[in-house]
Amino acid sequence: MINVGVVGCGSIARKRHATEYLANLDVNILGFNDHYNERADYMTKEFGGKVYDSVDEMFADPSIDAVSICAANAFHADLTIKALNSGKHVLCEKPMAITLKDCEDMVAAAHKNNKQLMIGHNQRLSLAHIKAKQILDSGELGRVISFSTTFGHQGPEMWGIDKSADTWFFKKSSAAFGSMADLGIHKIDLLIYLISGHVTKVYADLTTLDKKFTDGTMIEVDDNSVSILTFDNGTIGTVTTSWTYYGEESNATILYCEKGIIRLYANPTYSLEIIYSDNTKVHYELDKIQTNVDDIQTSSGVIDMFIDGVVRDEKTVLDGAIALESMKVVFACLKSSEEGRPIIM
Ligand SMILES: NC(=O)c1ccc[n+]([C@@H]2O[C@H](COP(=O)([O-])OP(=O)(O)OC[C@H]3O[C@@H](n4cnc5c(N)ncnc54)[C@H](O)[C@@H]3O)[C@@H](O)[C@H]2O)c1
Repeated sequence: MINVGVVGCGSIARKRHATEYLANLDVNILGFNDHYNERADYMTKEFGGKVYDSVDEMFADPSIDAVSICAANAFHADLTIKALNSGKHVLCEKPMAITLKDCEDMVAAAHKNNKQLMIGHNQRLSLAHIKAKQILDSGELGRVISFSTTFGHQGPEMWGIDKSADTWFFKKSSAAFGSMADLGIHKIDLLIYLISGHVTKVYADLTTLDKKFTDGTMIEVDDNSVSILTFDNGTIGTVTTSWTYYGEESNATILYCEKGIIRLYANPTYSLEIIYSDNTKVHYELDKIQTNVDDIQTSSGVIDMFIDGVVRDEKTVLDGAIALESMKVVFACLKSSEEGRPIIM
């Protein structure tokens, strides 16, 4: 059995980590920690285990094998490195950390301590994305020439546990990033996975257009962005993110290949559609994308993969070193927008 603890007891800890740990027969939940003890207390009543009054107390507990880091972005690196140095395996939520150095230090700490470090890039594990990867790797559609991908919803203030426009997600000190890194990281990581290539150039524009704190001032991070990514094989496309899609979420990725088009989560019924160049169409009804807004939280597979990786002592597609490559693209996009120029990677 793997004994786990969870740090940060907000929405993602409740809806995904604790729920999926509880469902995993190889897991014992030993306890929870949060800045707010009452949130940890709520989790123990719902999922078992005890309240750890501090992370130091949790990380010092020799019976804990593995921890989930579900705190605000700015704390990911410190908590992760502390846990790894205490001999724990770590599953850390995305975005991995708020500086490139922090991300690199996390990977180095996992390596030094010979522990698993995984990042919650759950889009790699959704059924339509897995099927698309198989189709692309088989070569039947040829190479991806271009793409467009979008991740937009009505904003994290509707999702996070605070349910307030003064959420930490909107502050530089706690979130560091806005929609581009919060949502774009999922799609950048997915594209690198599907295309099996490396991003060599980015040109991004991040902007804050609509979100306001309760006092009426604009939030401190971007609420919309568009980034152009170029891959080493020449594949080019756009990553669009938004926290201002009021009404309906968009989570669609479209890959334009040499012999046809793959549409992912672009159709509410068919999560994977292929339109071949002779106009024949194949539809797959596989799954619905996990969405925060509609509260569709079927098992993400992330927690099971983490536990499996720990049990087998094997690296997975969610490994921290792999996530580092996606984060480098995120940081390049931020730099591109700040400096108003393309960044060669
Ligand atoms: N993989 C995904 O699709 C996905 C979806 C949503 C959120 N997330 C990520 O998960 C993380 C948490 O997001 P959330 O939506 O659960 O936010 P949330 O606001 O609902 O919950 C965060 C919780 O962490 C606690 N916390 C913050 N810093 C802490 C610290 N240093 N120590 C202990 N507790 C701390 C807060 O008190 C709060 O209860 C974020 O990094 C977010 O980007 C990932």
